[in-house]
Amino acid sequence: MNMLGIETSCDETAAAVVAETGDVSKPWTIRSSVIASQADIHREWGGVVPEIAARQHVRDICGVVERALQDGQVGWQDLGAIAVTQGPGLVGSLLVGVSFAKAVAFSLEIPLVAVHHLAGHIESLFLHNGTLALPATILVVSGGHTSLYHVPREGEYHLIGRTRDDAAGEAYDKVAKLLGLGYPGGPIIDKLAQQGNDRAVAFPIPRMTHPNRNVANRLETPPPFGRAFAGRTEFSFSGLKTAVMRHVRSRQTALAMAGATTVDSPESIRLADREIADICASFQRVVVEALLDRTFGAARWLGARSVGLAGGVSANSRLRADAMERGRALDLPVFLPSLSLSTDNAAMIAAAGLRRFRAGHRAGLDLNAEASLAL
Ligand code: KG4
Ligand code: ZN
Repeated sequence: MNMLGIETSCDETAAAVVAETGDVSKPWTIRSSVIASQADIHREWGGVVPEIAARQHVRDICGVVERALQDGQVGWQDLGAIAVTQGPGLVGSLLVGVSFAKAVAFSLEIPLVAVHHLAGHIESLFLHNGTLALPATILVVSGGHTSLYHVPREGEYHLIGRTRDDAAGEAYDKVAKLLGLGYPGGPIIDKLAQQGNDRAVAFPIPRMTHPNRNVANRLETPPPFGRAFAGRTEFSFSGLKTAVMRHVRSRQTALAMAGATTVDSPESIRLADREIADICASFQRVVVEALLDRTFGAARWLGARSVGLAGGVSANSRLRADAMERGRALDLPVFLPSLSLSTDNAAMIAAAGLRRFRAGHRAGLDLNAEASLAL
């Protein structure tokens, strides 16, 4: 069966056709995957502007879907069902995809399947690698989320940890903005960090050992670990972001005092390229260590047979390399999506849709977008 997937949760309008293979070890194949990125539009604002994003989705959605059908060499009549991201995300953006998908389902009289965006990221691992050794510990790390899942069976996701404040990708984007590097910051910092010294600046590694009393109640802490486990699987990146900001400001002030420049405000002083590369490398080392310490720690406690990383930040070269190295040292298989499946796309939504469709899930035409949908 061919599944049409639609993804419009943030600033990418995406459509894809994914087909079932009949092979249980690699159940799905991508027939097409089209992404219209709005990054160039939001760049001049330094981040995603929700109203502009929603309007741009309206402009792009028809062309993107038609292109996905064309590339996949399938007609409307060849579609067995349609899957759409219901949430979480920007509500105006989500509504464009949800409305479009409902209209297609109604007019073609085919089933509609609602998909959680993070389930899509998790399924990108199965889409790219085939079946994983289960149970698996899977980290979804993107611009909006840093969430750790225990996956005991295919299609079953237990949230065991998440960030208390900023997502890792958000920290990348904010640090890049602070350094005057542009948007989105992740790929730029990744590239600059390769030329820097990752020990040049000693940024603090965020550590938490106690559960967060305010929000941890939604986490599923598997027995016998209980609540003590929660503090060890949660993430925090806002302190690190503040540490980078303080470091940059103090360096700018030092340069201003030394008379190295004649600008009015120290904040507009741009640090030397060499120094920026060192800051990027040092920041990235701490982020990657924090992400992998918690992920591999949870995998050990839960007796996971594999580890998976997904989401936009899983495209990061150091995160990928360090995760593979840790996996090799522990003899624990590590799974990653391809680079094009790491960042937002609709093929992962179609795959997650196929998983849900085969489990019997159907959405009605009263389906609504949900900005903070839980998984
Ligand atoms: O999954 P995604 O495309 O969208 C969300 O669901 O948020 O993730 C986007 C995030 C952005 O914060 C971007 O800076 C980050 O992923 N990102 C990276 C890299 N490529 C994208 N972060 C670090 N290194 C990269 N190579
Ligand atoms: Zn995403």
